[in-house]
Amino acid sequence: MSENLKSKAELEKPVTLEIEGKKFQYPTLKGTEDEKGFDISALRAQTGYITMDNGYANTSSCQSSITFLDGELGILRYRGIPIEQLAEKSNFIEVSYLLIYGHLPTQSELSQFKADITRHTLVNEDLAHLLSGFPRDAHPMAILSAATCALSTYYQDSLNPADPEQVKQNITRLMAKLPTLAAFAYKTSIGQPKIQPKNDLDYCSNFLRMMFAVPSEEYHVPKEVADALNLLLILHADHEQNCSTSTVRLVGSSAANIYASITGGICALWGPLHGGANQAVMEMLEEIHKDGGDVNKYVGLAKDKNSTFKLMGFGHRVYKNFDPRASIIKKACDQVLNKLGVNNPLLEIAKKLEEAALKDSYFIEKKLYPNVDFYSGIIYSALNIPVNMFTVMFAMGRLPGWIAHWKEMTENTSTKIGRPRQIYTGPTKTDYTPISQRRGK
Ligand code: ACO
Repeated sequence: MSENLKSKAELEKPVTLEIEGKKFQYPTLKGTEDEKGFDISALRAQTGYITMDNGYANTSSCQSSITFLDGELGILRYRGIPIEQLAEKSNFIEVSYLLIYGHLPTQSELSQFKADITRHTLVNEDLAHLLSGFPRDAHPMAILSAATCALSTYYQDSLNPADPEQVKQNITRLMAKLPTLAAFAYKTSIGQPKIQPKNDLDYCSNFLRMMFAVPSEEYHVPKEVADALNLLLILHADHEQNCSTSTVRLVGSSAANIYASITGGICALWGPLHGGANQAVMEMLEEIHKDGGDVNKYVGLAKDKNSTFKLMGFGHRVYKNFDPRASIIKKACDQVLNKLGVNNPLLEIAKKLEEAALKDSYFIEKKLYPNVDFYSGIIYSALNIPVNMFTVMFAMGRLPGWIAHWKEMTENTSTKIGRPRQIYTGPTKTDYTPISQRRGK
């Protein structure tokens, strides 16, 4: 184990593994919140064995000081600060600074961070034109990932992950330009002219204006809408080693540049088992609504082993009690809809579905609770964000988390390229068969 590892987590007594009659000792580690692990870096070299861990459910891929979550107790903290406090008192830009740079900013640090981001919101016109080449019905996540990767081509002189100044510049560019690209992707899909950023607006208002303004009319961003977006982005900002963040780390571990690494995260987030669940939840609620609103029928379907139907927005790899983000969003949902005077029948269906599932022994025994995506889509709909943009909104929120993890990883001198092993189950040595002698399967 490296010195760097030793200096961070506290070392405890080693564990002893007995393999084929021989005993081997492995150092244990204890994190600041008492989570325990043992370091098997030397396992294969000493024993010839590797571990098998489907979905990495028991594998710590790194040590990290960014986000703590306890799935049993429903705790989520960014840099030690409870999510409930950040949701109530902070804003997305401050939270982004906290995640990326490790502490709450002073007034001057925050002002500088905001000013830097504001100055970089424009995207190169050539890149903006590139977006027009996508088909109208292209999924905006495809456009966002392509555009994010394409950003690297405009900054080829500053892509060195080991240069802190270049990294800082790229962090600013990503934070500044992702909302512009996201809004441009949407405008392209509906055939409207792109609306350029307006730098006297705050981060969320600027994005909403780029989404909803048209050149022919004045547009004022309703404060309630910007506040609701701000809350959702804070709740999405980080979630330790989830699928997309682990992807960012894995891509970045090869020393790929930050744009390529974040693009990997965007693609991983797209899947319906991860960030794409917010779109899938709305589609599911819509289907239940059209089908007469019988939630018990769908709870039954989700339990049926012969059906592939799952309750989208339910269940989580880590939360086995409740998802603290879902609790905050559920409360906000009622408030936002009231403030905006929106009456969405899907909210009633969502509440009934939650109630029915939480009473059901299948969901109780498997510890399946609503996750962050269960109610977020209803708020996004109330803000007039189209369903296929939901996962893009999630990506905008998760961006500072991805950046923070990429930065933490590249700054850690003990980082190794991510390269899991496998238990091979294919054919043993087989000779090449000439095509004339092959029989089809
Ligand atoms: N509906 C019905 N059954 C479910 C659900 C669900 N939403 N989620 C899990 N289960 C069942 C599984 O079928 C499995 O049953 P089994 O033990 O009889 O085989 C058991 O509960 C355990 O579930 P796994 O899928 O093994 O748990 P895992 O940790 O691998 O997956 C996941 C977690 C992907 C979130 C899963 O719960 C799921 O697919 N949920 C729906 C999609 C979703 O909402 N994703 C968003 C997650 S939050 C986020 O990424 C932002």
